[in-house]
This record gives sequence, C-alpha cells and structure tokens, in this order.
Amino acid sequence: MATPESTIHKAEPADIPEIADIERKAFPDPWNEETLVEALATYPGEFFVARNNGRIVGFVAGGLEDTGEEVYGHIMNLAVAPECRGRGVGARLVRRLEQQFALGGAAGVQLEVRVGNTGAQRFYHRMGYQEVFVVACYYANDEDAVVMMKWFRF
Ligand SMILES: CC(C)(COP(=O)(O)OP(=O)(O)OC[C@H]1O[C@@H](n2cnc3c(N)ncnc32)[C@H](O)[C@@H]1OP(=O)(O)O)[C@@H](O)C(=O)NCCC(=O)NCCS
Repeated sequence: MATPESTIHKAEPADIPEIADIERKAFPDPWNEETLVEALATYPGEFFVARNNGRIVGFVAGGLEDTGEEVYGHIMNLAVAPECRGRGVGARLVRRLEQQFALGGAAGVQLEVRVGNTGAQRFYHRMGYQEVFVVACYYANDEDAVVMMKWFRF
C-alpha cells in the first residue's frame, strides 16, 4: 500500500521489470520491456518512478520535444499500481516531470489519452490540463486520442 512516504526517483534500467509489471496491469495494449528500455535510453532525465518501502508503485515517462520554434514536454506514459491509486502518487509523478520539463525550458506539456479513458482525463483536469483536440484512430485498435495540454506561466 502506498503511504505519503512514497518518494520519486529517476528511473534506472534495473527498474524496468517492475515498471513493465505495472504497465501490464494498467493498459490493454501495454508497452513491452523493449519499448520501456528504449524510452529510458532516449530520455533518461525524464523517466521517474515512485517508490514505497523499496517497491515501485508507479512511473511516468516523458520527453522534451523541440519543434525548432518551441520546446515542450510530452508525457508518453503514466501508470500507478492499481492497489496504490487515489493516494497522490500519480500527481506527485506528474509534478516532478513537469518540474524537469520547466528546467529544460519547456513552454508547456502535451499528452494523449484514449477517449474512453475518462478517469485519466479527470485526473489530468485536476492537474491543470485542458483538451485541445481529438486525433482520430490514434491507437492500434483505432480508438481516438484526446490531446491535452498545460501551459507554464512564469
Ligand atoms: C491516472 C492515474 C495515473 C492516476 O494516478 P493516482 O495516483 O490514482 O492519482 P492521484 O491519487 O495522484 O490523484 C490526483 C487527483 O486526480 C483525481 N483522480 C485520480 N484518478 C481519478 C479518476 N479516475 N477519476 C476522477 N478523479 C481522479 C484524484 O481524486 C486527485 O484529485 P484531488 O487533487 O482533488 O485529490 C491512475 O489512475 C492510473 O494508473 N490509471 C491507469 C493508467 C492510465 O490511465 N494512465 C494514463 C494514461 S494517459
């Protein structure tokens, strides 16, 4: 069970099996370990885990994107172990990643979420994100994605 003592750390390659286990419990089309390893290798500074009593209870994987005109953060994956949800772990992970994006010069953050994943949409609303548009057939099963954004104000 997660308690307020959950702490946030940069992810390490040795964390991947535990992360993959949470990923499998969270999504119908989970990233496999290879994809998780690749995300960590590509964006090692923007992949965080939450630990509680030595166990990983959640993770967030992001990346800084530079369009040439603007730098923004992209939340690519986020999940909390089912038995540890509703205790602030997801919020803590997202805030830590947002801090990293801000330090990297991002103007804001973007993410995609399944139209059917209304729980996650409500979570992101609570975190200050707004829907900006829908991308048709974004996912492998042709489900649409809601694109949500949050702008930093300095
Ligand atoms: C979405 C998810 C990461 C949220 O993590 P969590 O640790 O349960 O969230 P928190 O406890 O930090 O909640 C933060 C706030 O969001 C709200 N919230 C969280 N999940 C919610 C839900 N399903 N419905 C409504 N509100 C929700 C909380 O009530 C809390 O609000 P508060 O600030 O008023 O207290 C988690 O539910 C999860 O892993 N879901 C499955 C994977 C997933 O959908 N990932 C996102 C894909 S884009």
